[in-house]
Amino acid sequence: MSANAPIRSLTPPDIRARKGGDKLACLTAYTTPMARLADKHCDIVLVGDSLGMVVHGLPNTLGVTLDMMLLHGRAVMRGAERALVVVDLPFGAYEAGPTQAFAAAARLMAETGCGAVKLEGGAEMAPTVAFLTQRGIPVMAHVGLVPQRVQSFGGYKVQGRGPDGMRVAEDARAMAQAGAFAIVLEKVVEPLAREITAMLDVPTIGIGASPACDGQILVMDDILGIFTDFQPKFVKRYAELGTAAEAAIAAYAQEVRDGRFPAAEHCFAERPGEPRTR
Ligand code: KIV
Repeated sequence: MSANAPIRSLTPPDIRARKGGDKLACLTAYTTPMARLADKHCDIVLVGDSLGMVVHGLPNTLGVTLDMMLLHGRAVMRGAERALVVVDLPFGAYEAGPTQAFAAAARLMAETGCGAVKLEGGAEMAPTVAFLTQRGIPVMAHVGLVPQRVQSFGGYKVQGRGPDGMRVAEDARAMAQAGAFAIVLEKVVEPLAREITAMLDVPTIGIGASPACDGQILVMDDILGIFTDFQPKFVKRYAELGTAAEAAIAAYAQEVRDGRFPAAEHCFAERPGEPRTR
C-alpha cells in the first residue's frame, strides 16, 4: 500500500471473511490513547460494557448505560483507524424487542461512527439479531457466559458442560443463522468451543474458550495488569502496569513532600530586563 493511500478500516464483511484464515486478534479499549495502541495491532477493538467495572468501579455490567457506551464509543473511534470498532449494547437497552434494540444500536452507530454492535444472549435473541442485520446494523453475538445475566446464572460459571453443551451450541448456531458476522464464545468448555468453531461458517472469537477459535479477545486492563480486582483463569497478563503506575505515583508524592519536585527545569525564568508589572 502506498504511503498516500487512504487508511481503510476493517469492516464486518472483512472480519467474516477471515473464517478459518489468519487468527483475529481482538482487545477491548475505552479511551482514545488505548484505542490508538490497540488499533496498531488488533483487528477488532471492542468498547465492551466491561468498562462498567474496569473504568467506573461498578460491581458488574448491569449498571452500564447507553450514554456511557456512547461517550466511550466516541472516544475509541477518535483513536482507531484500521481496526473494526464494535460497541456493546448495554443491559436493558435491547432485550425488550427488536425495535428497542434497533433504536439503541442505531444511536451507537450514528453517534459514535462504530462499525458494528455486540449483544449478549442465545437463541431467544435471534429474531432481534435478524431484525438488526436486515436493517444495516452489523451484529457480533456473544454466547456462553453472558455477564449481563450474571444474576440469573448465579455467578460467572463455566458454560457448556454435559447436557448444557447442546444449549450453547444451539445458541451459537441460532446467532449465526440470524446473521451475526462473528460470535464471541465466553467461558465455554474447550472441546465444545472447538466443535462450535468447526460447525459455524462465521468466525468465533474465544474468551476462555479454545485456541481453535478463529480469534481471541481479552480485556485490555486485564492483560496490562491495571485491573486486578479479580483475575479470571482465562486471562494472561502481559505487563504489570498497575504496579509500575503505583511506584511512579508514590515517587511523585514523595518528591513533592521532600520539596524535590518541581526542580529548576520545571520552572519558568523571567526574561532579563522584563519589567514586572501588576
Ligand atoms: O465487555 C467486554 O469486555 C466483553 C468481552 C468479550 C471482553 O464483552
